[in-house]
Amino acid sequence: MKKIAILTSGGDAPGMNAAVRAVVRTAINRGLEVYGVIRGYNGLIRDELIPMTLRSVSDIIHRGGTVLYTARSPEFCTEAGMQKAVETCHRHGIEGVVVCGGDGSFRGAQDLTRHGIPCIGIPCTIDNDIACCEATIGYDTAANTIVDMVDKLRDTSQSHDRCSVVEVMGRHAGWLALTAGMAVGATSILVPEIPYHFDKDIVDRMRNTSTTGKHHFIVMVAEGVGHVNELAERIEEATGVETRATVLGHVQRGGSPSARDRVLASQMGSYAVNLLMEGKSNRVVATQSGQLVDFDINEALAMKKSLNMNKYQVAKEISI
Ligand code: F6P
Repeated sequence: MKKIAILTSGGDAPGMNAAVRAVVRTAINRGLEVYGVIRGYNGLIRDELIPMTLRSVSDIIHRGGTVLYTARSPEFCTEAGMQKAVETCHRHGIEGVVVCGGDGSFRGAQDLTRHGIPCIGIPCTIDNDIACCEATIGYDTAANTIVDMVDKLRDTSQSHDRCSVVEVMGRHAGWLALTAGMAVGATSILVPEIPYHFDKDIVDRMRNTSTTGKHHFIVMVAEGVGHVNELAERIEEATGVETRATVLGHVQRGGSPSARDRVLASQMGSYAVNLLMEGKSNRVVATQSGQLVDFDINEALAMKKSLNMNKYQVAKEISI
């Protein structure tokens, strides 16, 4: 193997740059040439590639976002788009592609591998919804960003004896809501994976807590549960506690990656290059019990990730 490419795809995640840096530097150090693909799979379709050097990835380990830009590419899902991407790889002599992204990006990697271009996936998503992997790149940073912001909300909620309903990202996954909710001591945590009962899981918990002298509350809601404005109105009506809804939005995806995400990204980037050099393809890099491992992409995509119920129960038991 002489030439590989790296791309970032789907929603960005803090730590993607650290992964790009690790892939580029590991590959160059092992004698490979590396291309950076601009804007995910669209860059392969449109032949937007830049040769990467050791210095093109200087000063990016601490930066959020992705220097390679990212995109979701409906065109890549068509046979015509795929053919163009494959031709680009052949034109440049690219023999392997490292794909940093989430499950949608891995489906693309699976297809590209089927079309003869070996791919390795690195899980980068703040949602932490890649089943084979304990923690995805970006999740730790996003959870810390949420905690920072909710700590600020808590100050003003406390001053006004209010309830703050906070919506965090996670259309299908409650990991961010659960982890950040636990870390801020939220009275209720609502996630898409577990149905909730308005009275039992919110109103009664607030009432019980207020009898012990606490008069401000945080209700953490994953995006997939939704309707935070309506929920805030219902809570105010049912409890008499003044309630405000806050949607944290895309700010959760930005910012400097945490040490944990930088280290994870560096390790996974290096591991991905090793896999390609060993002639492996259609693999996803993952962590299991703190160790780096890899899975077949088909197998990884078929796996279901269930929420950590122990974490959920503990958060519930002690937020009283
Ligand atoms: O997958 C990451 C994620 O941030 C989800 O949590 C969120 O639902 C989605 O991306 C938002 O996507 P977009 O940036 O396209 O609005």
